[in-house]
Amino acid sequence: MTTIGLIGAGHIGSQIARLAVANGYDVVISNSRGPETLSGLVAELGSKARAVTVVEVARAGDIVVVTIPLKNYRTVPVEPLAGKIVIDTNNYYPQRDGHIPELDNESTTTAELLQQHLPASKIVKAFNHIYAAELTTHGQPAGTKNRRGLVIAGDDQDAKATVTKLLDQFGFDTVDAGPLKEGWRIQRDTPGYGPRRTAEELRRDLAAAKRYKDR
Ligand SMILES: NC(=O)c1ccc[n+]([C@@H]2O[C@H](COP(=O)([O-])OP(=O)(O)OC[C@H]3O[C@@H](n4cnc5c(N)ncnc54)[C@H](OP(=O)(O)O)[C@@H]3O)[C@@H](O)[C@H]2O)c1
Repeated sequence: MTTIGLIGAGHIGSQIARLAVANGYDVVISNSRGPETLSGLVAELGSKARAVTVVEVARAGDIVVVTIPLKNYRTVPVEPLAGKIVIDTNNYYPQRDGHIPELDNESTTTAELLQQHLPASKIVKAFNHIYAAELTTHGQPAGTKNRRGLVIAGDDQDAKATVTKLLDQFGFDTVDAGPLKEGWRIQRDTPGYGPRRTAEELRRDLAAAKRYKDR
Protein backbone atom coordinates (compact mmCIF):
# COMPACT_ATOMS: atom_id res chain seq x y z
CA MET A 1 0.00 0.00 0.00
CA THR A 2 1.36 3.41 -0.97
CA THR A 3 1.66 6.05 1.72
CA ILE A 4 1.36 9.67 0.69
CA GLY A 5 3.23 12.09 2.90
CA LEU A 6 2.42 15.75 3.26
CA ILE A 7 4.92 18.33 4.45
CA GLY A 8 2.51 21.20 4.95
CA ALA A 9 -1.11 20.86 6.05
CA GLY A 10 -2.57 24.17 4.96
CA HIS A 11 -4.91 24.92 2.07
CA ILE A 12 -3.21 22.61 -0.41
CA GLY A 13 -1.79 19.98 1.96
CA SER A 14 -5.13 19.32 3.63
CA GLN A 15 -6.89 19.07 0.26
CA ILE A 16 -4.36 16.60 -1.18
CA ALA A 17 -4.73 14.59 2.04
CA ARG A 18 -8.50 14.47 1.48
CA LEU A 19 -8.04 13.30 -2.11
CA ALA A 20 -5.47 10.69 -1.07
CA VAL A 21 -7.70 9.21 1.63
CA ALA A 22 -10.70 9.23 -0.70
CA ASN A 23 -8.63 7.21 -3.18
CA GLY A 24 -7.58 4.59 -0.63
CA TYR A 25 -4.06 5.80 0.22
CA ASP A 26 -2.55 5.90 3.67
CA VAL A 27 -1.63 9.45 4.62
CA VAL A 28 0.97 10.92 6.95
CA ILE A 29 0.75 14.68 7.40
CA SER A 30 2.81 17.35 9.15
CA ASN A 31 3.10 21.08 9.66
CA SER A 32 5.60 23.41 11.32
CA ARG A 33 3.94 23.43 14.75
CA GLY A 34 3.69 19.71 15.47
CA PRO A 35 1.25 16.79 15.10
CA GLU A 36 -0.90 17.75 18.09
CA THR A 37 -2.06 20.85 16.18
CA LEU A 38 -3.49 18.65 13.41
CA SER A 39 -5.93 16.60 15.53
CA GLY A 40 -9.02 18.19 13.97
CA LEU A 41 -7.89 17.50 10.41
CA VAL A 42 -6.86 13.93 11.23
CA ALA A 43 -10.20 13.27 12.92
CA GLU A 44 -11.89 14.42 9.71
CA LEU A 45 -9.60 12.32 7.50
CA GLY A 46 -10.25 9.15 9.50
CA SER A 47 -8.25 6.03 10.27
CA LYS A 48 -6.15 6.10 7.06
CA ALA A 49 -4.42 9.31 8.20
CA ARG A 50 -1.88 10.09 10.92
CA ALA A 51 -0.31 13.39 11.97
CA VAL A 52 3.42 13.02 12.62
CA THR A 53 6.54 15.17 12.53
CA VAL A 54 8.05 16.47 9.30
CA VAL A 55 10.95 14.01 9.58
CA GLU A 56 8.53 11.12 10.12
CA VAL A 57 6.59 12.13 7.00
CA ALA A 58 9.84 12.13 5.03
CA ARG A 59 10.64 8.63 6.36
CA ALA A 60 7.19 7.06 6.06
CA GLY A 61 5.95 8.60 2.81
CA ASP A 62 6.43 6.67 -0.43
CA ILE A 63 5.46 9.81 -2.33
CA VAL A 64 5.97 13.03 -0.40
CA VAL A 65 4.33 16.36 -1.22
CA VAL A 66 6.14 19.54 -0.19
CA THR A 67 3.45 22.20 0.15
CA ILE A 68 4.77 24.99 2.34
CA PRO A 69 5.62 28.66 1.83
CA LEU A 70 8.54 28.58 -0.62
CA LYS A 71 10.80 30.60 1.70
CA ASN A 72 10.99 27.55 4.02
CA TYR A 73 12.09 24.97 1.45
CA ARG A 74 15.55 24.56 2.98
CA THR A 75 13.98 23.09 6.15
CA VAL A 76 12.73 20.02 4.24
CA PRO A 77 14.68 16.94 5.47
CA VAL A 78 17.16 15.74 2.86
CA GLU A 79 18.40 12.26 3.73
CA PRO A 80 15.05 10.48 4.36
CA LEU A 81 13.73 11.71 1.01
CA ALA A 82 16.64 10.30 -1.01
CA GLY A 83 15.40 8.17 -3.91
CA LYS A 84 11.76 9.18 -3.39
CA ILE A 85 9.29 11.02 -5.58
CA VAL A 86 8.78 14.48 -4.10
CA ILE A 87 5.92 16.58 -5.45
CA ASP A 88 6.50 20.32 -5.28
CA THR A 89 3.38 22.55 -5.22
CA ASN A 90 5.18 25.71 -4.23
CA ASN A 91 4.93 29.13 -5.83
CA TYR A 92 7.07 32.22 -5.44
CA TYR A 93 5.46 35.30 -3.94
CA PRO A 94 8.17 37.83 -3.01
CA GLN A 95 5.82 39.65 -0.64
CA ARG A 96 5.49 36.42 1.35
CA ASP A 97 8.79 34.67 0.62
CA GLY A 98 11.18 37.65 0.41
CA HIS A 99 13.20 38.23 -2.74
CA ILE A 100 15.08 35.24 -4.15
CA PRO A 101 17.43 36.74 -6.79
CA GLU A 102 17.66 33.63 -8.99
CA LEU A 103 13.86 33.53 -9.23
CA ASP A 104 13.61 37.27 -9.82
CA ASN A 105 16.07 36.99 -12.73
CA GLU A 106 14.54 33.66 -13.83
CA SER A 107 17.88 31.87 -13.97
CA THR A 108 16.12 28.98 -12.17
CA THR A 109 12.65 27.83 -11.14
CA THR A 110 11.00 27.04 -7.84
CA ALA A 111 11.15 23.28 -8.37
CA GLU A 112 14.80 23.39 -9.45
CA LEU A 113 15.59 25.07 -6.13
CA LEU A 114 13.92 22.20 -4.29
CA GLN A 115 15.76 19.71 -6.53
CA GLN A 116 19.09 21.37 -5.60
CA HIS A 117 18.17 21.05 -1.94
CA LEU A 118 17.10 17.38 -2.40
CA PRO A 119 19.67 16.16 -4.97
CA ALA A 120 18.84 12.45 -4.59
CA SER A 121 15.05 12.89 -4.78
CA LYS A 122 12.90 12.86 -7.91
CA ILE A 123 11.12 16.19 -7.92
CA VAL A 124 7.89 16.58 -9.87
CA LYS A 125 6.21 19.97 -10.05
CA ALA A 126 2.43 19.59 -9.70
CA PHE A 127 -0.69 21.18 -8.17
CA ASN A 128 0.84 24.68 -8.26
CA HIS A 129 -1.73 26.34 -10.55
CA ILE A 130 -5.06 25.17 -9.12
CA TYR A 131 -6.84 26.85 -6.22
CA ALA A 132 -6.92 24.60 -3.20
CA ALA A 133 -10.72 24.45 -2.97
CA GLU A 134 -10.96 23.24 -6.57
CA LEU A 135 -8.86 20.16 -5.89
CA THR A 136 -11.85 18.44 -4.34
CA THR A 137 -14.54 19.95 -6.56
CA HIS A 138 -13.12 19.97 -10.11
CA GLY A 139 -11.99 16.35 -10.40
CA GLN A 140 -13.91 14.11 -12.85
CA PRO A 141 -13.55 10.51 -14.02
CA ALA A 142 -11.10 9.73 -16.83
CA GLY A 143 -12.66 10.21 -20.26
CA THR A 144 -15.09 12.94 -19.16
CA LYS A 145 -15.46 15.50 -21.94
CA ASN A 146 -13.64 18.76 -21.12
CA ARG A 147 -12.04 17.24 -18.02
CA ARG A 148 -9.73 19.68 -16.24
CA GLY A 149 -6.01 19.29 -16.91
CA LEU A 150 -3.09 19.93 -14.59
CA VAL A 151 0.52 20.58 -15.57
CA ILE A 152 3.50 18.63 -14.32
CA ALA A 153 7.22 19.11 -14.93
CA GLY A 154 10.15 16.94 -13.92
CA ASP A 155 13.45 15.40 -14.96
CA ASP A 156 12.58 11.76 -14.12
CA GLN A 157 10.19 10.08 -16.57
CA ASP A 158 9.17 7.25 -14.22
CA ALA A 159 8.39 9.71 -11.44
CA LYS A 160 6.26 11.74 -13.84
CA ALA A 161 4.41 8.60 -14.94
CA THR A 162 3.61 7.81 -11.29
CA VAL A 163 2.37 11.34 -10.65
CA THR A 164 0.30 11.24 -13.85
CA LYS A 165 -1.48 8.11 -12.54
CA LEU A 166 -2.07 9.81 -9.21
CA LEU A 167 -3.56 12.88 -10.88
CA ASP A 168 -5.78 10.66 -12.99
CA GLN A 169 -7.06 8.94 -9.83
CA PHE A 170 -7.67 12.35 -8.29
CA GLY A 171 -9.77 13.33 -11.30
CA PHE A 172 -7.48 15.28 -13.62
CA ASP A 173 -5.80 14.93 -17.00
CA THR A 174 -2.08 15.69 -17.07
CA VAL A 175 -0.02 17.88 -19.37
CA ASP A 176 3.73 17.34 -19.23
CA ALA A 177 5.56 20.66 -19.60
CA GLY A 178 8.89 18.84 -19.89
CA PRO A 179 11.88 19.01 -17.55
CA LEU A 180 11.86 20.99 -14.30
CA LYS A 181 13.45 23.98 -15.99
CA GLU A 182 10.30 24.37 -18.11
CA GLY A 183 8.17 24.77 -14.98
CA TRP A 184 8.31 28.56 -15.37
CA ARG A 185 5.65 28.17 -18.09
CA ILE A 186 3.03 27.59 -15.39
CA GLN A 187 4.38 29.93 -12.72
CA ARG A 188 2.51 32.88 -11.21
CA ASP A 189 1.02 35.26 -13.81
CA THR A 190 1.23 32.92 -16.80
CA PRO A 191 -1.96 32.24 -18.83
CA GLY A 192 -2.51 28.76 -17.35
CA TYR A 193 -1.99 29.80 -13.74
CA GLY A 194 -5.33 29.65 -11.96
CA PRO A 195 -8.17 29.22 -14.45
CA ARG A 196 -9.92 25.95 -15.17
CA ARG A 197 -8.37 24.59 -18.36
CA THR A 198 -8.61 21.35 -20.32
CA ALA A 199 -5.38 19.61 -21.28
CA GLU A 200 -5.62 21.00 -24.80
CA GLU A 201 -6.09 24.55 -23.53
CA LEU A 202 -3.19 24.15 -21.13
CA ARG A 203 -0.88 23.09 -23.97
CA ARG A 204 -1.71 26.37 -25.69
CA ASP A 205 -1.17 28.29 -22.45
CA LEU A 206 2.24 26.70 -21.94
CA ALA A 207 3.27 27.63 -25.48
CA ALA A 208 2.05 31.22 -24.98
CA ALA A 209 3.76 31.77 -21.61
CA LYS A 210 6.25 34.63 -21.48
CA ARG A 211 9.21 35.27 -19.21
CA TYR A 212 8.66 38.13 -16.77
CA LYS A 213 11.24 40.26 -18.62
CA ASP A 214 9.44 39.79 -21.96
CA ARG A 215 6.06 41.09 -20.83
N1 LIG B 1 -3.59 28.12 -1.63
C1 LIG B 1 -3.63 27.75 -2.91
O1 LIG B 1 -4.72 27.74 -3.52
C2 LIG B 1 -2.37 27.30 -3.62
C3 LIG B 1 -2.51 26.76 -4.89
C4 LIG B 1 -1.39 26.22 -5.53
C5 LIG B 1 -0.15 26.29 -4.92
N2 LIG B 1 -0.02 26.88 -3.69
C6 LIG B 1 1.35 26.92 -3.12
O2 LIG B 1 1.50 25.76 -2.29
C7 LIG B 1 2.23 26.10 -1.11
C8 LIG B 1 1.33 25.88 0.09
O3 LIG B 1 0.25 26.77 -0.03
P1 LIG B 1 -0.96 26.77 1.00
O4 LIG B 1 -1.93 27.77 0.50
O5 LIG B 1 -1.39 25.39 1.32
O6 LIG B 1 -0.23 27.40 2.29
P2 LIG B 1 -0.83 27.56 3.77
O7 LIG B 1 -2.30 27.37 3.76
O8 LIG B 1 -0.25 28.83 4.31
O9 LIG B 1 -0.19 26.32 4.54
C9 LIG B 1 1.18 26.19 4.70
C10 LIG B 1 1.45 24.92 5.49
O10 LIG B 1 2.86 24.73 5.53
C11 LIG B 1 3.24 24.48 6.87
N3 LIG B 1 4.62 24.87 7.03
C12 LIG B 1 5.17 26.10 6.96
N4 LIG B 1 6.50 26.03 7.09
C13 LIG B 1 6.79 24.71 7.27
C14 LIG B 1 7.99 24.01 7.47
N5 LIG B 1 9.17 24.66 7.50
N6 LIG B 1 7.93 22.66 7.64
C15 LIG B 1 6.74 22.01 7.60
N7 LIG B 1 5.57 22.63 7.39
C16 LIG B 1 5.60 23.97 7.23
C17 LIG B 1 2.29 25.29 7.69
O11 LIG B 1 2.29 24.80 9.01
P3 LIG B 1 1.97 25.77 10.25
O12 LIG B 1 0.59 26.25 10.04
O13 LIG B 1 2.15 24.86 11.42
O14 LIG B 1 3.03 26.86 10.18
C18 LIG B 1 0.98 25.01 6.94
O15 LIG B 1 0.45 23.76 7.32
C19 LIG B 1 2.68 27.54 -1.28
O16 LIG B 1 3.97 27.57 -1.84
C20 LIG B 1 1.64 28.12 -2.24
O17 LIG B 1 2.16 29.22 -2.97
C21 LIG B 1 -1.10 27.37 -3.02
